[in-house]
Amino acid sequence: ITSQSYVFFIIGASGDLAKRKIYPTLWWLYRDGVLPKNISFIGYSRSQLTIEQIFENSHKYMKIQEDEHDIYEKFLKLNSYISGSYDKSEDFENLNSKANKISHQVNAHRLFYLALPPNVYESVSELISKHCRAASPGWLRLIIEKPFGKDLESSNKFSQHLNKLYTEEEIYRIDHYLGKEMVQNILVLRFSNRIFSRVWNRDSIAGVQIIFKEKIGTHRHGSYFDEVGIIRDVIQNHLMQILSILAMEKPRSTTGEDIRDEKVKVLRCIAPIKLENVIVGQYIGDKKSTDSERQLGYLDDKNVPKDSTTPTYAQIIVFIKNERWDGVPFILRAGKALNERKAEIRIQFRDVPGRMFDEELSENNVEGTLARDELVIRIQPDEAIYLKINTKRPGEMNFSIEETELDLTYNERYQGVKLPNAYERLILDVFMGSKINFVRSDELQEAWRIIDPILAEIEKKKLQIIPYKFGAIGIREAFDAAVKQGFIYTRTYVWEDD
Ligand code: BG6
Repeated sequence: ITSQSYVFFIIGASGDLAKRKIYPTLWWLYRDGVLPKNISFIGYSRSQLTIEQIFENSHKYMKIQEDEHDIYEKFLKLNSYISGSYDKSEDFENLNSKANKISHQVNAHRLFYLALPPNVYESVSELISKHCRAASPGWLRLIIEKPFGKDLESSNKFSQHLNKLYTEEEIYRIDHYLGKEMVQNILVLRFSNRIFSRVWNRDSIAGVQIIFKEKIGTHRHGSYFDEVGIIRDVIQNHLMQILSILAMEKPRSTTGEDIRDEKVKVLRCIAPIKLENVIVGQYIGDKKSTDSERQLGYLDDKNVPKDSTTPTYAQIIVFIKNERWDGVPFILRAGKALNERKAEIRIQFRDVPGRMFDEELSENNVEGTLARDELVIRIQPDEAIYLKINTKRPGEMNFSIEETELDLTYNERYQGVKLPNAYERLILDVFMGSKINFVRSDELQEAWRIIDPILAEIEKKKLQIIPYKFGAIGIREAFDAAVKQGFIYTRTYVWEDD
């Protein structure tokens, strides 16, 4: 008896996503011996290419070590490539027979990764469902990545299209932030520590910030980005996903359905965002910079219309109307072309009631109040969890207080531990049939519902777009808005104009 075979299809094999992420990830998973034994990989796209060419393109992303050449050759042999259209039945019939031939089984399990431009999602998903299903008991799993539409309506339309062709069970919507170590750790942190579970609510928490910053601008991606903007690109998906895990109630179990049920429930408690809770910006060139890239603003990209109001920076403030969170601001902030690359969650606790130490506090803190406790989960770079607390300044004879950190920085505490990247985890999850880290259609719908009205307003040019310089720390108005919501920035975070 031969063991169950698997075929992994990379649809859009000649494209950027396949080259940079999918092929390298499959190679690492294969190299590490975690994929099923009896597996083959088929690349498919319109270009007339050979599998060798596909691998050459991907080579520099695969990071092959000296002693890995033999196993790499083995991996290469399991791969093949076939070209065809994205809209003709006969091409997908052909793909199907190729898969049957390669796997020597008509009932091999099949995984399809759509690494495609969204305008062909509909036709390709339809043709796969019609022509490329394995004979029973072979299953099919379809992996797709955003954009899932560009607003609530188009997203719903696409979901309906998929629902006609696939069961929800078969669909794996990737949000690669769900594959990141620290995002996965939120569940453990929240639900396996009594010390956090008791204070995770409006009684103790003053506000939450979920922050995404990138140093790079959008050059060379201008024509894509201009259609999307930072709210669709990052906030609607990555930051909303983080929000829902941070804010949800404790799931009944760790199964994908139980977890996603709770995530959806919390999203349902969020009203569509109001214009007054949104700040948007667009970067301009920093003429003084010695870096030629930084001299260019968003509008200097020739693929971007000169009057574009697409935001490259946005802050939205969200309120969750439920018993746990009523009144607590959740600030979601994302920006390109800023001073650093960082993604982090900052949970600020309320002030300690009752004064006792006042006289001693002048130096470190805002006007005689204790610095607030703050729990920071740094997603990247350098994964860390630290809790900012007040402590007695060591050695002092009086109650002099200073802010310090209980610090769990991963590369110090867990030296030598390799953290798999997001795509490795997520693709492996698909093989295992684990849905925890994939977005269900109702979650997607809720996230769009919340964001949808402001997208329309931005399109109607109703919002003022605040310019900021390439490399800036952020937008002043956004920080001010956070302060207005009650966030207190102690000395380390004061705003400095350049
Ligand atoms: C993608 C966005 O989803 O996430 C990109 O489309 C962004 O614009 C990227 O750069 C960030 O991912 P990461 O893993 O590098 O933080």
